[in-house]
Order: sequence, then structure tokens, then C-alpha cells
Amino acid sequence: MRILFIGDVVGAPGRNMIKEYTMRLKQKYKPTITIINGENAASGKGITEKIYKGFLDAGAQVVTLGNHAWDNRNIFEFIEDAKALVRPANFPEGTPGKGYTFVKINDIEIAVINAMGRTFLPAIDCPFRKMDEILEIVKKRTSYIFVDFHAEATSEKQAMGWYLDGRVTAVIGTHTHVQTADERILPKGTAYLTDVGMTGPYDGILGVEKEPVLKKFLTTLPVRFEVAEGREQLNGVVIDFNPKTGLAKSIKRIQINNDHPFYE
Ligand SMILES: [Fe+2]
Repeated sequence: MRILFIGDVVGAPGRNMIKEYTMRLKQKYKPTITIINGENAASGKGITEKIYKGFLDAGAQVVTLGNHAWDNRNIFEFIEDAKALVRPANFPEGTPGKGYTFVKINDIEIAVINAMGRTFLPAIDCPFRKMDEILEIVKKRTSYIFVDFHAEATSEKQAMGWYLDGRVTAVIGTHTHVQTADERILPKGTAYLTDVGMTGPYDGILGVEKEPVLKKFLTTLPVRFEVAEGREQLNGVVIDFNPKTGLAKSIKRIQINNDHPFYE
């Protein structure tokens, strides 16, 4: 069985890439489930209902979020009804939406959990203890468990990988927008990648136009970031897992860009 996860979709260029490649990736890899991180999908910040539904139409079964979950106010109008949308589970009690969901595909159930780090990000609840709490519930239903850990610090992401090794199918990092090359199967069987990378502009800085970022570095003045235009990229990962145990067998990174063209 196989999971396809596509990393942080940034603005219209990211949405273009989703439209253009999700079905082609699904035809090539034939995943059991397809998951997209959409926290930057609306002009780089947040997500709208239309975009969320567009991702489902494009072939995703679950959409995950992160620290920008609330940046587009439209979210409050639809998050409670959006069955396939998950936001970080360790937001404080009373936060709208949910931190995990189950997807039924044929006769099997796959759990998708979204959690967020606290290093260089808002001081929310402990993601490690929250994962313990959630796994207590989730493991009663399934051992096929995908975790999108949205975090800034590589150390915190690695720590989560080791913390969950052998307890979940995969821990895949999001948020830093540059794909890391450290994909591996941890000793107890969990697939791990520090960051899956982003889907959107290829020539910007983390998805936004270069010039304002350069101005900020050169002058420290406040600037306005806009989603970059021009060439586009998609980053993702494919994880194969054993249906008997829910543990990972292999992990493969996907990059689609001008330097790494897609082959059907
Ligand atoms: Fe983020």
C-alpha cells in the first residue's frame, strides 16, 4: 500500500502544479491515498473553501495545514464541515476544526494526523504529548498512520521522527519549503523525511518574490511579500508500507521542476 504526499502548495503557481500533475502522479504511482499540504495555497497564506474543494477534485483525499491555517478568514466558515481538512492537532483546546481524520478506502482505514512544532513558531501545546494522546485513540482503529509534522527546526522534526518510530507509518516534515535529502526508514519501521518541500514558484525565495526578501535582508525595512511568478515546481514523497503491520517498506522523494522533469 502506498501514500502520496505533496508538499506545501503556494498560491496560484502551486495550484497550477496540483492541477497539472496530481492525476499524472496518481497514474504513475497508484497510491492508496493522496494527501496535500495546503496551508499556503491562498496567495501564500491560508486556504479557501474553493481551493480545498479543488484539491479534492484534483485527486487528494486529505488536505493538511500549519501555522498559516487561520490567515484566510474564509476558513472559519467551512472548517467544521470540511471532513477531509486537518489543522495542527496541538492547537489549544477550543480551536475550530480537527487535528486528525480517518479515510476509508475500500475496506481499510488510514489515519492522517497534522501536528505543529513549537521551535521558532507560536507556543502551542506540546506536539509530542499530543501525539501520545492521539495515538491512544487512533491505534484502536488502524495501524496505517500518516503524520504531517509542520515545523521549523530540523532538530524538532528529527526528534518527532524518533519519538514516533515504530508507532506510525510515516512522519513527514513540512513548512520549510525546501526538500531535504534525508529520506529513510527508521529502525523500527517509520518512514521519515525532514521536509517534503513546496509546490509553487521555482525561482522565488520559499515561494515569494526575491526582490522584497532581498530588500529586507539588505535594509531590515518592513516589506510586503508576494507569491513569485515564473517557473514552477512540485515536491512530494511516496511511501510504501506493509499492510500487515502498517510499517514502511520504502520512501521515495519526488521533485518536478525544470532541472528534474517529470517522466510518466
Ligand atoms: Fe508553514
